[in-house]
Amino acid sequence: MGEQPRGTHVPVLLERCLELLAPALARPGRTVHVDATLGLAGHAEAVLAAYPGTVLIGLDRDPEALAHARSRLARFADRIHLVHAVYDELPDVLAELGESTVDGVLFDLGVSSLQLDAPDRGFAYAQDAPLDMRMDQTRGVTAEDVVNGYSHGELARVLRVYGEEKFAGRIASAILRERERARITSSARLAELVRESIPAPARRTGGHPAKRTFQALRIEVNRELAALETALPAALDALAVGGRVVVLSYHSLEDRITKQAFAERARSKGPVDLPVELPGTGPTLRLLNRGAEPPSEAEVAANPRAASVRLRAATRIDPDDDTGTERTGRAARERPRRAVKAMHTSGPALRPGSTVDPDSGPRGPGGLTRTEAEGEGS
Ligand SMILES: C[S@@+](CC[C@H](N)C(=O)[O-])C[C@H]1O[C@@H](n2cnc3c(N)ncnc32)[C@H](O)[C@@H]1O
Repeated sequence: MGEQPRGTHVPVLLERCLELLAPALARPGRTVHVDATLGLAGHAEAVLAAYPGTVLIGLDRDPEALAHARSRLARFADRIHLVHAVYDELPDVLAELGESTVDGVLFDLGVSSLQLDAPDRGFAYAQDAPLDMRMDQTRGVTAEDVVNGYSHGELARVLRVYGEEKFAGRIASAILRERERARITSSARLAELVRESIPAPARRTGGHPAKRTFQALRIEVNRELAALETALPAALDALAVGGRVVVLSYHSLEDRITKQAFAERARSKGPVDLPVELPGTGPTLRLLNRGAEPPSEAEVAANPRAASVRLRAATRIDPDDDTGTERTGRAARERPRRAVKAMHTSGPALRPGSTVDPDSGPRGPGGLTRTEAEGEGS
């Protein structure tokens, strides 16, 4: 293993990710796994160690992360392709490597501990640094450009939408006032301005007052949500039948995009009033958990950075697997329930995040089937 950078790095939900990917990656012969957010390669290293037949394609937009990953994964050099790319470039990367389909995909979204702990990159409100926040420091606008260049309306929108910040307008006004006096160039000055803009009672709740503003600026600077909206469908298109995707999200906006991308493919495209599936109209994805799976208390105790994680996983299926069979999921619920009623067993409801994966992990109560997993979620 290569030298670890500052701070301890524990890959989030590592065992759970391996368990979910196993049925796809442990298939006989050569399998291909894409780690779309390679980071410090904690997940990637575990995948390569667990599956000797797996070739890894690792993407990261941060050249520094790639350098760390390359040294950590040196012993697997003949099974890895590490690529400096934004993950929405996945189709081009696969084409260049001559891979038409892949078996596993992991997205572990957000920033790495390398980026968060770096004293000079401006991601952390707790340390003073130049306001940069670019995951790829070789290109693009910085947080300083955004803070000093956006109009009041644009700034308030970024803080409200990406930070879910109630006091977005007040913070934007404080930024504009300060800008007239002097350019805002440091994370400490910005954190102080945010703190001063928030009413005193609100400062005492919900963590550090600047947390939401910093999250919002990071998302804007790196165009994170737009990249995810393009990358997820592309990754699902690349999955072979039986292939699996796991997404670890750290805030509700990422999780919502994931939920929608999965739901779109987990439902039938056939006419809602037909009782059976027609050729080619069946779902192309089966959800492997119901809703978004939270970390266990033990996971959070061992790794505080896992506290906000939500996991969703799915497997690619052949849309014609169900041709001629009774429809399930939303279409089935929108027509009279008689035919599907028998499939619902008694017993306790699944809690959000319970597994419905027939191939890995325990089954939900009542031996739940695809019906319960489709089109739902938290
Ligand atoms: C949470 S870390 C991943 C940690 C990794 N799973 C590990 O075990 O070390 C997220 C990584 O994804 C990268 N990243 C974030 N958004 C990206 C994007 N749109 N395209 C490519 N890489 C991205 C970041 O630079 C960061 O290194």
